[in-house]
Amino acid sequence: MNDASGIGNDQWKTRFGFMLAAMGSAVGLGNIWRFSYVAGENGGATFLFVYLAFILLIGIPLLLTETSIGKAGKMDAVGSFKKLAPNTKWHLVGLMGVFGGILILSFYIVVSGWSLFYLYQYITGAFWTEPDGGFGQAFESWISNPFAPLFWQALFLGITLLIVMNGISKGIERANNIFMPALAILMIFMAIYGLTLDGASEGLAFLFTPDWSQLGNPSIYAMALGQAFFSLSLGICGMLTYSSYLKEKDRLPGATVGIALMDTVFAVIAGIMIFTAVFSFEVDTASGPPLVFIILPSIFEGMPAGNLIAIVFFVLLTMAAFSSALSLLELPVAYVHRTLGLSRKAATFVCSGIIFTLGIASSLGFGIWSGVEYNGNNILDMIDNFTANLILPLGGLLMAIFVGWYVKRDQAIQMSELQSAGLQNIWYTLVRYVIPVVMAFILFASLFGFM
Ligand code: PFF
Repeated sequence: MNDASGIGNDQWKTRFGFMLAAMGSAVGLGNIWRFSYVAGENGGATFLFVYLAFILLIGIPLLLTETSIGKAGKMDAVGSFKKLAPNTKWHLVGLMGVFGGILILSFYIVVSGWSLFYLYQYITGAFWTEPDGGFGQAFESWISNPFAPLFWQALFLGITLLIVMNGISKGIERANNIFMPALAILMIFMAIYGLTLDGASEGLAFLFTPDWSQLGNPSIYAMALGQAFFSLSLGICGMLTYSSYLKEKDRLPGATVGIALMDTVFAVIAGIMIFTAVFSFEVDTASGPPLVFIILPSIFEGMPAGNLIAIVFFVLLTMAAFSSALSLLELPVAYVHRTLGLSRKAATFVCSGIIFTLGIASSLGFGIWSGVEYNGNNILDMIDNFTANLILPLGGLLMAIFVGWYVKRDQAIQMSELQSAGLQNIWYTLVRYVIPVVMAFILFASLFGFM
């Protein structure tokens, strides 16, 4: 039953369970599908360098900021702000997060559905040989079908729903305890395999030898910031919601560094895996979003034991997608569960229904609604850009202002649970001054188009 906080007594069994779940949220399609094409289009190593700098300077301090709000508030996205700042409008940051989470999940299930379908195609052997017209055409004609992709995204969301319905310790924590170790093993296996390919040294050079002259290209900064936020699941209160289920004794700072480190290691390993393959098969690194779904299958086909590798790869991509989708669904479920007084099960069904319905638009945007576009972006791209480049950074900026300016310094430091005075000062200065200024500048610049 619910207690006064509205979240019931459901909590993470262990701090490690929380860390695995939060890592699961961070590691997802963003690390593999999004990171590789964004890095590929934006200069590889130079992009990686700026991205790493943002993770360190903005990502980690803000992850601590967001989780400290959740741990202190002990409620869902909206409730935590209401508790820490009663009679103010700060809870709107939480509400924006809830809507942002619903929007992201609505297109996330579309791409996850593709991944599940590809896995099925490899298990049944349908993709073992190149279909007539090539993988590109097979992908295009499949996603433009109005019904088949909807089936796969419904299946993906259905499984996510069954896990979330069971709550934190029995649902989400248990699932991640299986997903995350499996994911780590598969990923290392794939990276080692990648390193044995002929083009490995070129792939590594692309990823690790920066061309500093590219630092003059302004779009690298906006893209790297958006990618850092998306990849760390930062700015829409998903991490806030997860941290609200922590026990009092479970400390935040080490956990947040661990989460960011793990997410970054996964992104780099995914980069090694994909770019070594891309270079050994001489594919254009700037092939854009279809990189994973169109190009990799052709690469797998030419590899020794490629069918097996493809199965491993799509198991990995699908599991990573599940562990992120869990956090994206938990975010609105926790809010609806408390505010509408619905059971967790009912709240999970209501939120999933809304998300699935919205997701239909993103899916049809590849087929019968492909005419709905803006600047060459279809419906999925528009929702992706709107959330990753605007909602997430705006949410992060507002959280920094909340903790840096609304909350008193002593309380902020206490919430952060940082012990050393030096780290406290660094974190507080970053959150109060550096992050708001840098983020406001990049947001402003990208909104008004001079980036
Ligand atoms: N971090 C996830 C990824 O990289 O795929 C995406 C994501 C999950 C974004 C949860 C936001 C979120 F709240």
